[in-house]
Amino acid sequence: MDITARKSRIEDEPADAVLLIHCEGERRLAPAAAAVDARLRGRLAGLITSGEFTGRLGQVSILHVAPGERLRAKRVVLAGLGKRKDASLEKLRQATGSAAKAIRTAGAKSFAVPVPDLAVLLTSVPAVNRVRDIAQTLAEGAILGLYQFTTYRTERKDETAKAVRKMSVVVGDPRALAQARQGVRQGQIIGEATTYVRDLCNHPANVVTPTYIANEAKKIARERGVSAKVLDRPAMQRLGMGALLGVARGSHEPPKFVILEYRGGPRSAHPVALVGKTVTFDSGGISLKSADNMEQMKADMTGGAAVLAAVRAASRLRLPINIVALIPATENMPGGSATKPGDVLTSLSGKTIEVINTDAEGRLILADGLTYANRYKPSVVVDIATLTGACAVALGKHAIGLLGNNDKLIGELKAAGEQCGERVWQLPLWEEYYEQIKSDVADVKNTGGRPGGTITAAAFLSKFVGGAVWAHLDIASTDWSEHEQAYISKGPTGVGARLLIRFLSNRAAGKRS
Ligand code: BES
Ligand code: MN
Ligand code: ZN
Repeated sequence: MDITARKSRIEDEPADAVLLIHCEGERRLAPAAAAVDARLRGRLAGLITSGEFTGRLGQVSILHVAPGERLRAKRVVLAGLGKRKDASLEKLRQATGSAAKAIRTAGAKSFAVPVPDLAVLLTSVPAVNRVRDIAQTLAEGAILGLYQFTTYRTERKDETAKAVRKMSVVVGDPRALAQARQGVRQGQIIGEATTYVRDLCNHPANVVTPTYIANEAKKIARERGVSAKVLDRPAMQRLGMGALLGVARGSHEPPKFVILEYRGGPRSAHPVALVGKTVTFDSGGISLKSADNMEQMKADMTGGAAVLAAVRAASRLRLPINIVALIPATENMPGGSATKPGDVLTSLSGKTIEVINTDAEGRLILADGLTYANRYKPSVVVDIATLTGACAVALGKHAIGLLGNNDKLIGELKAAGEQCGERVWQLPLWEEYYEQIKSDVADVKNTGGRPGGTITAAAFLSKFVGGAVWAHLDIASTDWSEHEQAYISKGPTGVGARLLIRFLSNRAAGKRS
């Protein structure tokens, strides 16, 4: 979709639709909406006073412009934002996502949305960058709400043939235009980072293999001028990545260890290390999963995809920061030479691991990724992984699990989560939990039993971070949605990219908390 910011009057916009956003329970129309309504002879006000349109979040009503009504647009779309006292950028993202879908269903190919009304409604957003933030949110909401994955469809094409091609973010004041342009560009980059993750997760595991991921990394490197290095199995063997290799043993797909480096910051600045779990299919291995929902395990590479997307976006946004991205990629399969329960693996760190359950494979590949991160003397290390089903038991489907060893870093991730709408919630990492992962035969075992499964997984990871300042994001609770939501697609949600990008851009701007 082509998204532009323009200085214009909304009444004069020649789009297929004009999108107006209205708060719940209010009779008065915001200024731009009122100007449109004047041309519609009060039909918008009529929708509201009749009670047909209440302004409830997610509600959308569409009016056709009649002959003789002096409006250049073909339709007027009224979308609800919910109560004014609860108005926020997140609500706006949702309202925009719902409205964009309705606009597409109506067959409109282009729409325009006025920013001034939103600037009046969203007084909770700091005034200095309000226009920029609103424009960014509108772009994100539309891109994410309109997302569809149709690559493998050869039938029912008519359902997906409709596409919205153009969105105009309209400001009235020429001084607001630069901000709106900046916001639109940021929203586009961040929205596309998320749809990139969704695409990688939606493609089936017979397409997205570790080799495919490595090729994506090389493509990003080519296009964005970042450096990519891919370690193959022999290189991993030479280094001694026994934990990652132990997971890869059961698969015919060769594992890859991908290193992407983006250097946007000062030469001397220590990089942020991002480590993303990339299991392109998790069958469980010898500890085979049950068939129910096993197909969803094609998305067990969401963490790695989010890291790829974040590096790509950081480069597009030219963030003044150094990043090293580490992506251990493998399948987890129950082949004849697969690792068996009871096997002992020697990790890159030298620590030995007793594999109790081959389905706890994510922490094994992350162990070697975290150890490798130390080579870069990173300022901080953040790993992101679809690590434990227990995370959804603890937090439900609305929060990312967060654990770590540094309060400041935890604070940065919490703040980034609030700001971007991908919220995180901290769980404790007390020493008592470490009892559960003591092994009788090796240094550590890879499962800690049912209680506190997300915590004991993080406790295991912490043994491989060396002295680094580190945090762990468990996205197993949020990487997949059972139903279509305002701007979150059914299936893979693409979670993580927005959070990492916000975290990185805050750090680049020097906002460390
Ligand atoms: N990839 C799964 C976790 C997962 C579950 C992600 C559901 C998304 C949705 C992970 O590799 C796994 O299998 N974890 C096990 C750990 C257990 C064996 C200690 C789990 O959660 O059951
Ligand atoms: Mn598993
Ligand atoms: Zn897994």
